[in-house]
Amino acid sequence: EKGGYDHFMLKEIAEQPKAVADTLLGRIDASGRLTLDEVRIPDTVLREADKIVVVACGTAFHAGLIAKYAIEHWTRIPCEVELASEFRYRDPILGPRTLVIAISQSGETMDTLMALRHAREQGAKVLAVCNTNGSTIPRESDAVLYTHAGPEVAVASTKAFLTQLVACYLLALHLGQVRGTQWGDEVLAVVRELARIGEEVERVLETMEPVRALARSLAHKDTVLFLGRHVGYPVALEGALKLKELAYMHAEGFAAGELKHGPIALIEEDLPVVVVVPSPEGRSVLHDKIVSNIQEIRARGARTIVIAEEGDETVVPYADHLVRIPATPTLLQPLVATVPLQVFACELATARGNEVDQPRNLAKSVTVE
Ligand code: M6R
Repeated sequence: EKGGYDHFMLKEIAEQPKAVADTLLGRIDASGRLTLDEVRIPDTVLREADKIVVVACGTAFHAGLIAKYAIEHWTRIPCEVELASEFRYRDPILGPRTLVIAISQSGETMDTLMALRHAREQGAKVLAVCNTNGSTIPRESDAVLYTHAGPEVAVASTKAFLTQLVACYLLALHLGQVRGTQWGDEVLAVVRELARIGEEVERVLETMEPVRALARSLAHKDTVLFLGRHVGYPVALEGALKLKELAYMHAEGFAAGELKHGPIALIEEDLPVVVVVPSPEGRSVLHDKIVSNIQEIRARGARTIVIAEEGDETVVPYADHLVRIPATPTLLQPLVATVPLQVFACELATARGNEVDQPRNLAKSVTVE
């Protein structure tokens, strides 16, 4: 049932091109328009929403952090992202004009369920982004957008994450369409790019051997740090989470701009630091800043593992290891940039003799608060 793979996680990583294609299936027509009929929340409610709050846990929370960039950029609706376990304990401000998005692979995560119950009690509309048909979270929500990733068996979430991102991008575009805030060339270009993203993920998967070799060479390390900016920041958090849960290593993700506010003190000789570099296109300020960050940490001895787009030559002099990903629009980059981090963590777990599909102390779905 592992389809020839040693672990479900490897199989699920490999299934990602198909999973993202399945999430798009039937939701974009030939002219590039979206038809999200499942979003059974009336357009009037979507038009009047004045705030979006995303609630989720773990990897799904990281998908939410990335979704915020897309939602705010395409819809201009303020969006907060909150850990479901924290949400209801701070008496959040909610009402009929709040749209809550609950993201969950399993649809059974108790923290997320309690957060959405609380939101509905306050009159908010709740839309679930979920992978498991008929599970509790979609049943208790006003509407659901299924991710169609297929069953995810490995405890570490991989294909569910990528499809959560795709579903959130579609939702953000849909909201932009309904509210008339965005239907320009940029959005059409994004839709076209989303349609190609499966092939790009496939290309990334074909080039992962050096990443595996690198992971094996780092099996004796205690700590790995991850840095990113903009949407690369949640990608860094996700890379660190994967490493914690699979390799049982100390791993932390930081916003690269925070380095000088503390974390740079951690840098020492030969410390592996993974840096997710944003596209050099368009957002050159962001790109240049991260190139300086790479220089800063390397000058202090870090072993830099740089994830950068094909054709980005500026990073080459400062990369001890360079991992190439295809050029994609900035907001979509997490779909390709996360894949090497999944492979990296899976290989490190194997090299350290850990149980990949069933990491210690963890359960696939966390049904207690
Ligand atoms: O089923 P859910 O998406 O609600 O689960 C949320 C988290 O428990 C989950 O993403 C967890 O963080 C994963 N094991 C991470 O790989």
